[in-house]
Amino acid sequence: MYSTEQIKELQKLTASLVKADHTDKAFEIVEDLRKALQFHEYRYYVLNDPLISDTEYDQLFKLLEKIEQANPELITATSPTQRVGNSLNPAFNTVAHLVPMLSLENSYNAEDLIDWDRKAREVARKEELEYCVEPKFDGASISLIYEDDFLVRGATRGNGVEGDDVTTNLKQIRSIPLHAAFAEYGIQQVEIRGEVMMSKKAFAAYNEQLTQQNIAPLANARNGASGSLRMKDPKDVARRKLEAFLYNVSYYTRTGDKVHAEKEKLLNTHSGILQMLWNVGFKSPLKEMKVVKGIQAVINYCNEFESKRDDLPFEIDGMVIKVNDLQLQESLGMTTHHPRWAIAFKFKARQATSKLRIVEFQVGRTGSITPVAKIDPVFISGVTVTSISLFNEDVIKEKDLKIGDTVLVERAGDVIPYIVKSLDEVRDGSEKEIVFPTNCPVCNSELYKEEAEAVWRCINIECPAQVVERMIHYVSKDAMDIRSFGEANIRKFYELGLLKDIPGIYELDFTAISKLPGFGKKSIDNIQAAIEASKHQPLNRLIFALGIRFVGETTAKVLANAVKHLMDLKDFSEEKLQQLEDIGVKVANSVYTFFQNEQNIEMLQQLETLGIEMSNKKNAAVVQGGLAEQTFLFTGTLNRLKRSEAEEMVEEHGGKLLGSVSSKLNYLVVGEDAGSKLEKAKKIHSIKIISEDEFLSLVDKNITG
Ligand code: IVH
Repeated sequence: MYSTEQIKELQKLTASLVKADHTDKAFEIVEDLRKALQFHEYRYYVLNDPLISDTEYDQLFKLLEKIEQANPELITATSPTQRVGNSLNPAFNTVAHLVPMLSLENSYNAEDLIDWDRKAREVARKEELEYCVEPKFDGASISLIYEDDFLVRGATRGNGVEGDDVTTNLKQIRSIPLHAAFAEYGIQQVEIRGEVMMSKKAFAAYNEQLTQQNIAPLANARNGASGSLRMKDPKDVARRKLEAFLYNVSYYTRTGDKVHAEKEKLLNTHSGILQMLWNVGFKSPLKEMKVVKGIQAVINYCNEFESKRDDLPFEIDGMVIKVNDLQLQESLGMTTHHPRWAIAFKFKARQATSKLRIVEFQVGRTGSITPVAKIDPVFISGVTVTSISLFNEDVIKEKDLKIGDTVLVERAGDVIPYIVKSLDEVRDGSEKEIVFPTNCPVCNSELYKEEAEAVWRCINIECPAQVVERMIHYVSKDAMDIRSFGEANIRKFYELGLLKDIPGIYELDFTAISKLPGFGKKSIDNIQAAIEASKHQPLNRLIFALGIRFVGETTAKVLANAVKHLMDLKDFSEEKLQQLEDIGVKVANSVYTFFQNEQNIEMLQQLETLGIEMSNKKNAAVVQGGLAEQTFLFTGTLNRLKRSEAEEMVEEHGGKLLGSVSSKLNYLVVGEDAGSKLEKAKKIHSIKIISEDEFLSLVDKNITG
């Protein structure tokens, strides 16, 4: 749907439409564009399998916006442009659910499940029951109402009987369709239940942004989802890149129209309902669920899922088992608290309690003071935890933590461990306040805190802790990547007076170092070679390595792309910086301040004299041709390069990276254990499928050629 050429055509056509008034033609195009956008949103947000690039999607979206602006009478409530709320949410209204949102009975082991199955079979008077087993999503529950196929309301769970009307915020979630063809199933009004989720990937990306802004990261993806539903600004909701899984229809009314028998049949079972939800455009757990007969098969599937819990793209805390036959569900009915036709199977806890012994205060490279809790060692899902970041003073206050407290610690998947809460029920009065220092624990200068910030900071840029942390960051893997010259060496050389600042890395006295124990010829050769190689790192790495506040890897790339030489940034005003992609007031101010500081400029001049490359090689490569105009995608495990290195090589030589296999792709680079991407690429003949070695020689040819 819509090739690049067609998009260009449309752009031309729109320009003329906006000038003159051709409402009929505009109407036709608007309808067409909406269909195309809805289709591509579905491919992207529900199927995770886009057919066009983000840029092409944005172009189509902007076209629609433009025509709608010129012809406001053509705007409809379900137009993709109408998701993006421009106004803030007023107070949230309380609304009653059509059917109360119940919670489920929990089970923790096979015996619990066997017991539950026995009771259900007794009530149902059946030898064996058919169950639908699906993940128990660990997010925030929601309830949606559609009438005549249109989304009319979305609410939080609230107290189960009443929740908050959060429709505007839920419209920011692209996997929730604004329009869904329930009428095809003879359904007029329907209430559906589901869970808003933040995927592990979205959670990590969002937290990286927060960390760069010195804001305490979200503790876990569940908080990321639940904390978003009642946010004032819908744009903040959109930023969290949430998804919604819909898994239950709690109520519906019929239109009375005749329905195709195949479709009608779906309404008889829970798995059929999941299929219907999928068919009309929802992300239902259709791919994740399994219909099985008998409780042993249920237990097997639960165990199977638990073992791959960490490999899933989103957090689940168990499985939900539902009687598949909806009529039977009805006759099983409810106990006082829970439905008898469903039960949750909870996975093993990832929480444990421990004692908070002391809090240490660490100084980061930007002078930020981070409190770190030292706890009695505790074993949680395969790892012994002894040390937990508390991020800032506010976290200590909010959680009311005290030295000597018993604390509940959680460690979910690859998320760093965190303290959920202190258990004040078991306090005995001997607990002590955590006193936040007023002076830097390393250089003793007074600490400061900016008004809008939660972080206390040591502003002495010569503070030894900061100097050392800056050097550690400079040599780190994602920065200048000076391997074999890690944290330990930096600390040692600094303490011995052999290294005092970043330029000093390039002026090390190796004769002195060779006299230190453990530094033989071979290790010195390695360090020297790594230091030498770092001089030619791409400019974006150097910018990131400088450790400018708020400048993460992505911003460093944007800055590098904007200049021919690092020193050009000296001439950028804050306004000019803000014109760059994704650079806001705060980042612009920080970059500007960095490049106006004489000491910093001196350090950069020193680095340049020492031979560190400061011009933008990438821009040069594009001019020469390189891989320009070529698109790449990597799949499987690479042997010689890290994925990030390979991707960087593509960009450095002017090529473009794509997120998925489509006819736009020129090269699929295949590593070990490549999966579905490879299969898909084989079907598109224009794609060249190459190995890692072939990729390297392609790059090589482009450099030398
Ligand atoms: S069914 C009447 N299915 O778990 C039961 N719930 O303690 C309707 N949840 O409040 C819920 N994944 O928020 C159901 N696949 C799933 C679920 C699920 C997560 C949540 C839901 C519910 C809670 C039950």
